[in-house]
Amino acid sequence: MNYKFFMKTIFYVGVLALFAVGCGQTPQSKTATLRDALKDKFYIGTALSVSQFSGIDTLSERVAKENFSAIVPENCMKSMFLQPKEGEFFFDEADKYVAWGEANNMWITGHCLVWHSQAPDWLFVDENGNNVSPEILTERLKNHITTVVSRYKGRIKGWDVVNEAILDDGSWRNSKLYEILGEEFIPLAFQFAHEADPDVELYYNDYSMALPAKCATVVELVKKLKERGLRIDAVGMQGHIGMDYPTLEAFENSLLSLASTGVKVMITELDLTVLPSPNPNMGAAVETNFDYQKELNPYAEGLPDSVSQAWDSRMGEFFALFLKHSDKITRVTLWGVCDKDSWRNDWPVPGRTDYALLFDRQGNPKPVVQTIINKTKE
Ligand code: XIL
Repeated sequence: MNYKFFMKTIFYVGVLALFAVGCGQTPQSKTATLRDALKDKFYIGTALSVSQFSGIDTLSERVAKENFSAIVPENCMKSMFLQPKEGEFFFDEADKYVAWGEANNMWITGHCLVWHSQAPDWLFVDENGNNVSPEILTERLKNHITTVVSRYKGRIKGWDVVNEAILDDGSWRNSKLYEILGEEFIPLAFQFAHEADPDVELYYNDYSMALPAKCATVVELVKKLKERGLRIDAVGMQGHIGMDYPTLEAFENSLLSLASTGVKVMITELDLTVLPSPNPNMGAAVETNFDYQKELNPYAEGLPDSVSQAWDSRMGEFFALFLKHSDKITRVTLWGVCDKDSWRNDWPVPGRTDYALLFDRQGNPKPVVQTIINKTKE
């Protein structure tokens, strides 16, 4: 064997060996995302603001695409935006939202058809500012619901039909809806939504559902709707929680009593504030606001490790509970993508720095994300 031939052979054998090793190696294992890990448990969702589906906030858009499997519009489908004047609908942003969800293979929810808040002023009154009659309000609700639900028929998979009709003590919220129509506005809304899209899922959604009195009224409400043969698929427990409220036990009890009515449960607006609350057991009444005070904003420069660990551990406990009851839960949705996006930075006190979501201000997952992924394998 001449020397040249020998060297050539060694070279090719070497190349072949390297190739073989390369082929045999598993590709660098891509860490599972939340979306993949929870695939067989429940949808994992996020609320999206307009900037996140319009190519403006590309950071949160990327995080949403990579990690979530369901979306809900944070504001653009509320009635004050969809029908600012009677008969004049504005669908530009809602259309974009739905198209974005389809392009990214998301379970698309609509939020929300009937709510006392973020509703246009004209909806409940006549030209003199007096409450309209029950007949006129019924007609207006029917027109709004029918127009909106039919527009997205077959594309939006579930609607928050009625939002926040019950107060924390279990009594009815004395909204214009209730003042004019009494309890009847709820079955009417469910009926109109079902008529507009018989296949779409329909939900009742509310906050502070871990309060027994409130939960009990919602349970009654679900039963009444079912007795009347109306469709209701799930109850949304919003889940705007704090470091010391509610207890896991109270949350679990409510979850179980809601599920016992035969509907599914969804955690629809999850966020965990670390900030001091000006009011114990705040719930999420958007109309309750407090003035800014420096003492109420202790982590403007960053979160101490001890607090962030406590946050992580509490969020982990809630997810452990959701996984324990994944047979009853169809979706868990965070109310926002990254900490910078959270409404909790401005509610109930404006201008604070909160750390309420699963992804930090740079779009990095917090440690709890890996904890949740690990728990799915247990
Ligand atoms: C909030 C949005 O996040 C804010 O941007 C807006 O200013 C007020 O509404 N319960 C709900 C949500 O059902 O629609 C609310 O969203 C938060 C409380």
